[in-house]
Amino acid sequence: MKAESNKPITLNTCLSPSLLHLYDVSSSIVVIIDILRATSTIATALYNGARSIIPVDSVAECIKLGKQMDVITAGERDGKIADGLKYGNTPSQYTPEFIKGNTLVLTTTNGTRLLHMALAEGALGIITGSFCNLSAVCDYLTSQKRNVILACAAWKDRVNIEDTLFAGAVISRIKNNFQQNCDASQIAETLYLQAKDDLFGFLKEKNASHYQRLMGYGLEEDIRYCLTIDNSNVLILYESGRLVVAKN
Ligand code: MLT
Repeated sequence: MKAESNKPITLNTCLSPSLLHLYDVSSSIVVIIDILRATSTIATALYNGARSIIPVDSVAECIKLGKQMDVITAGERDGKIADGLKYGNTPSQYTPEFIKGNTLVLTTTNGTRLLHMALAEGALGIITGSFCNLSAVCDYLTSQKRNVILACAAWKDRVNIEDTLFAGAVISRIKNNFQQNCDASQIAETLYLQAKDDLFGFLKEKNASHYQRLMGYGLEEDIRYCLTIDNSNVLILYESGRLVVAKN
């Protein structure tokens, strides 16, 4: 597959934010991946009618915007609701009754941090990806004929399994449309093909670190929800400081 410039379009996977600077971000669409739970919450809130989501990378900024604007503020740190905020990162709490027509200001430990790193690196475009909107993400990336970086939010720069699995799921669906020369992508797809029939069971079997953390907080329902494919299948673009559902 060749882009307008006749150059082959590439598909790469970045397993940790600490590696993002090694990739050609400014010529790529960057997919922000934070399966447990930021990008799953983002897909769910927008699917359920949120007007937009403002991703911020500090709790202080989130609280400040909450005082200045008519918005709902939410945030998580270390898997728990952030101090000073009322709502956290549990996707299922963003029901249509609660979120429809509202704007959500959201800050999380890794997901919103990575989004701001991709912005700072001058990403050509930014979308968010989760199992909740897997098909919408794959259809878009194939249609755009642009270089793609599947960027895993990981956990405080340490590679995690669930984000890597999602990258593998995307690669397994769209790889034939791209030129590939990325071992991280090979690792991701190989892992996904092992796990795809029981994603929850795989995280449990491997005792995945954030799986353990969230199970420790009694959040099994969140994990199962975030591993469900296409339960909030909307395409989410970052535009003018906000995450919004793409207009058709
Ligand atoms: C994150 O940003 O790391 C996650 O969203 C954390 C979480 O929700 O538990």
